[in-house]
Amino acid sequence: MKQLLTIIAGVVVIVSMVVFVFTLRQVREEEASLTDDLERRTALLADSLKESVRPSYLSNATSTIQSVLDKFANRGRLLGLAVYDDDGDLFSVSADLPFNLSDYAAVPKQAMDADSAKGDFLEVQDNGKVYIFAAPLHQDEKIIGVLVLYQRADYIDAAKRQIWKTNLIRLLIQALLFSIAVILILRWIIFRPIITIVDTIRQARAGKVAEGAYTVKSHSFFRPIASEISKMSKSLLLARTAAREEARLRLEKIDSPWTEERLKEFIKSYLKDRKIFVVSNREPYIHKKIKNEIQYTVPASGMVTALEPIMEACGGLWMAHGSGDADKLTVDKNSKLAVPPEEPKYTLKRLWLTDQEVKGYYIGFSNEALWPLCHMAHTRPIFRKEDWIEYRKVNGKFTQTLLSEIKDTRRPVILVQDYHFALLPEMIKKSRPDAEVGLFWHVPWPHAESFSICPWRKEILGGMLGADVIGFHIQQYCNNFLETVGKEIESIADLEKFAIYHKGHTTYIKSFPISVAFTAGADGIPEPKSSLLEDMGIKTKYLGVGVDRLDYTKGILERMRGVEFFFDIYPAYKKQFTFLQIAPQTRKAVEKYRQFNDDVTREAERINKKFQDNDWQPIVLLKEHYTHEKIYPLYRSADVCLVTSLSDGMNLVAKEFIAARNDESGVLILSKFTGASRDLTGAIVINPYSAEETADAIYQSLTMPPAEQRRRMKKMRDSVKNYNVYRWAAEFIRAVTSLG
Ligand code: G6P
Repeated sequence: MKQLLTIIAGVVVIVSMVVFVFTLRQVREEEASLTDDLERRTALLADSLKESVRPSYLSNATSTIQSVLDKFANRGRLLGLAVYDDDGDLFSVSADLPFNLSDYAAVPKQAMDADSAKGDFLEVQDNGKVYIFAAPLHQDEKIIGVLVLYQRADYIDAAKRQIWKTNLIRLLIQALLFSIAVILILRWIIFRPIITIVDTIRQARAGKVAEGAYTVKSHSFFRPIASEISKMSKSLLLARTAAREEARLRLEKIDSPWTEERLKEFIKSYLKDRKIFVVSNREPYIHKKIKNEIQYTVPASGMVTALEPIMEACGGLWMAHGSGDADKLTVDKNSKLAVPPEEPKYTLKRLWLTDQEVKGYYIGFSNEALWPLCHMAHTRPIFRKEDWIEYRKVNGKFTQTLLSEIKDTRRPVILVQDYHFALLPEMIKKSRPDAEVGLFWHVPWPHAESFSICPWRKEILGGMLGADVIGFHIQQYCNNFLETVGKEIESIADLEKFAIYHKGHTTYIKSFPISVAFTAGADGIPEPKSSLLEDMGIKTKYLGVGVDRLDYTKGILERMRGVEFFFDIYPAYKKQFTFLQIAPQTRKAVEKYRQFNDDVTREAERINKKFQDNDWQPIVLLKEHYTHEKIYPLYRSADVCLVTSLSDGMNLVAKEFIAARNDESGVLILSKFTGASRDLTGAIVINPYSAEETADAIYQSLTMPPAEQRRRMKKMRDSVKNYNVYRWAAEFIRAVTSLG
């Protein structure tokens, strides 16, 4: 629409300019012609009148002159006449001349002085323009007086105005016609074929083009492009069919890699038409108003990173809290929208929470109680009764909405995500025992002793045990959970099947190490750009990166102290090595996170002050959120990536770094307190609480021979490739639907 208006405005401006130039010319010509005509006619009239006036003037017959002047005055355009004597005094004037002659005596005087006829156009009050023409009267070549004619000339301006008016109306009609013509031409000849072409490409890309339907019809000059696109769509369709066939064949082969296609085939053949419902607190797309425009962001969340490719592959419905300030503006009347916004593949259903609910359920119980309780990072959980009440209420609210979404679905598959919804599995099962419910706990599960401090531990465990399967990242968390349940509630544990019998229901506890969407070729990984680092002011030979939400569990302060210690013991690396920490702010409403944000800033400043040299500083701290597309080139540019969490369920940054390194170089330093340290055995594993260990690991990374880097990286890439997020999803879904 904006382009269309621009084009129309352009056309109107050009047409207006052309019309203006032509009108100006026409007006000038008309003016010249009318003026010339008036002057000519006045001169002729003056000549003939001179003959009538002179005899009477000579004989001083005042009354005769007066009657001659009166006779001709007011005829046609002649307003009046006057005769001046040779002293320049008024001798006689026609009656009813509508202005004071003494104000306009200059022209007769000039004519007398020059002894020749003079004419001039003057503005006369209330009469508009008047042409004053003075012709000398002679006797024996001597001037005896002047005859003056006053002709109305305002009709010349009226004629000019009329031309402008007519041409303006013409211009408006032309502009209107032009605009209509432009709209029609663009719509029918340009936009329509383009929309058809784009639609076909989109359908082809989304795999929605049926065989034989890939021809793009176009009758205009787009025909060559349309024909090429038809061919491309056909090739894409064939390639997709081949990939599907291959994926189907691979389904049975246990050790072939998992891809988006294979997961789709798996879902299709195992779930048939059963629909998947995901429930999480954080939504995958957040709409915000930025400078009067609605834009969306993908949040920095490990859970979103993992679930998004699965939903893209499988479709279904994802229910989450609508937390963006423009979220309500982008949904339909059922609070739903199709996502990804650019290329919809599944439905996002947003749930609205009040400020009080957010405060109690999200800020309070989820993030001030459960989060520190599950992460062993020495931050004391805060248990407030009112938060717990809101937490229970919001779990109930999500349950009610989910129940109405699944009311027409038989045996729905429900995948509940994370610690925000511990109570939801039991609530759902109570109303819908036929639903198959999996709960995936994306954070660690602490030791039984640690968990026992929670005042509502029994309700939480009971709620979780409503699920058919509870998934954790690693076996250690499963063991902790089993031990916790054994200690806290009446139940029977089957250690062989890793199952818990509670209130007549069986829940299987199993580890599913979550991962990223790493596929065989890992093509399409953006290349590193040197300008990217230059823009950040990084010019050193070596680069280390850290990418985390600004969370106290991530060990960011410990990491920076490790970097400080590194420069203390290896000063030769000053101005040779820079550590880049990307740390988008998170959970700003939680006091602990606000404090942590200040602590990190202060620590970076302190260390930078200590080592800073000219334009080099050891730590570059950026608090903005980087999309996956932006972060991959940074991973590719780094010599070492530091993941030093004090406690972390899995940590997908470590796996993203591995997935990005298709050049098979670079080193990963990984905290032993991450779930990822179990899979990524090629990393340098450290205790992040020890600055010495971190510093040594940095040194070891920067001096590691390329062959050794390759050996370790290859091993880690094989591991991530073998157990990527598609396999994670397939195994979790298979377990939940009792197909495993
Ligand atoms: C962790 C949790 C996720 C959560 C993410 C971001 O990864 O396991 O469930 O989405 O942190 O936290 P936020 O509170 O911003 O959703």
